[in-house]
Amino acid sequence: MERRGWMIVAIILCLIVFSSGRELKVKVKHTHQYHQMATYNHTLARILVEYASAVYLSDLTELFTWTCSRCDHLTKGFEIIDLIVDVKRCLQAFVGVAKDLNATVIAFRGTQESSIQNWVEDLYWKQLDIDYPGIDNAMVHHGFYTAYNNTILRPGVLNAVKKAMDWYGKVEIIVTGHSMGGAMAAFCGLDLSLALGEQNVQVMTFGQPRIGNAAFASYYSKVVPNTIRVTNGHDIVPHLPPYYHYFPQKTYHHFPREVWLHTIGFGSLVYTDEKVCDDSGEDPSCSRSVAGNSILDHLTYYGVQMGCETSGTCRIVMDPRISAFVQKDLEGNLVLSKDLSAPVVKLKTDLADQGSLL
Ligand SMILES: *[C@@H]1O[C@H](CO)[C@@H](O)[C@H](O)[C@H]1NC(C)=O
Ligand SMILES: *[C@@H]1O[C@H](CO)[C@@H](O)[C@H](O)[C@H]1NC(C)=O
Ligand SMILES: *[C@@H]1O[C@H](CO)[C@@H](O)[C@H](O)[C@H]1NC(C)=O
Repeated sequence: MERRGWMIVAIILCLIVFSSGRELKVKVKHTHQYHQMATYNHTLARILVEYASAVYLSDLTELFTWTCSRCDHLTKGFEIIDLIVDVKRCLQAFVGVAKDLNATVIAFRGTQESSIQNWVEDLYWKQLDIDYPGIDNAMVHHGFYTAYNNTILRPGVLNAVKKAMDWYGKVEIIVTGHSMGGAMAAFCGLDLSLALGEQNVQVMTFGQPRIGNAAFASYYSKVVPNTIRVTNGHDIVPHLPPYYHYFPQKTYHHFPREVWLHTIGFGSLVYTDEKVCDDSGEDPSCSRSVAGNSILDHLTYYGVQMGCETSGTCRIVMDPRISAFVQKDLEGNLVLSKDLSAPVVKLKTDLADQGSLL
């Protein structure tokens, strides 16, 4: 037993010596126009959380026409350009234009496991198992990265963004998502920032897990400084996969900037504080100051229900009358796509005229 203890100490010492000598080398394109670190905007967060909630819905007709139950409040008037669905992996994203924000909004759906409990338990063991292309020492989680990069989502989103730019000009791009959708939103925000150069890309995620190591986080925050990562109370997911502060360079590491929602006070004097955290990504006085032990806190942000209406199976509901807008590829992936030169308003009235099914 004693021997084993010494061995562990020796291994730890080796790791510390090994890791402290390394610098993080971050290559960044100098042509980039960097914006300062994100400032948190509560009003914007309340709006974006509704997009991140809506993208979970499985009725593609209601989403495509923006008539869903979660499309009715602060996101009214949103025009979807493309709705992209990886049917096999149960992934979903949309791209559209929010005129009130003067922005293109992209939202990614989180995981749709039959048991969120199982999904969370798996997160404990996720390895940093793939190098982020082109960046020294930067490693990320393979599953999260490939869910964005190696599926229909990436080409689907890029194509829709291009369409939006052709049609509406270079408006700001905002990428959002909850849970694993937040992880994909971050990879997308990074991808778009690199692809589009100086155009302003903003990312806001909710209850997002860690996605890469310190070298990755450092690179990410230079390329997408306008990023807010909202965490809520004791939500367990932002604590995963684990970060070990003894090995900050070796383990997963969040990128900044966290905003931690938590309640303060007791009795009738309870209110929610929104703590804007430091720019380390791992501010010990934010969500890390409490135990991540709540799944309930993961499922509600700003009072908005996140996740699917019904847990369990991944299902798709689609009205046959929108089939004219659907493209299906060989793998069965769907893209519902608006031809921006045709009046979008007409589509809504046509469907409404036909009555009951909507
Ligand atoms: C916060 O966001 C809202 C919605 O986009 C915007 O109207 C408002 O001007 C923003 N506030 C600040 C201080 O930037
Ligand atoms: C990411 O996507 C690009 C383009 O499809 C592909 O060439 C590359 O191999 C992918 N990266 C990984 C690590 O799979
Ligand atoms: C929208 O954003 C674009 C690009 O940033 C800008 O040129 C335009 O003036 C903005 N329009 C409004 C109504 O704010």
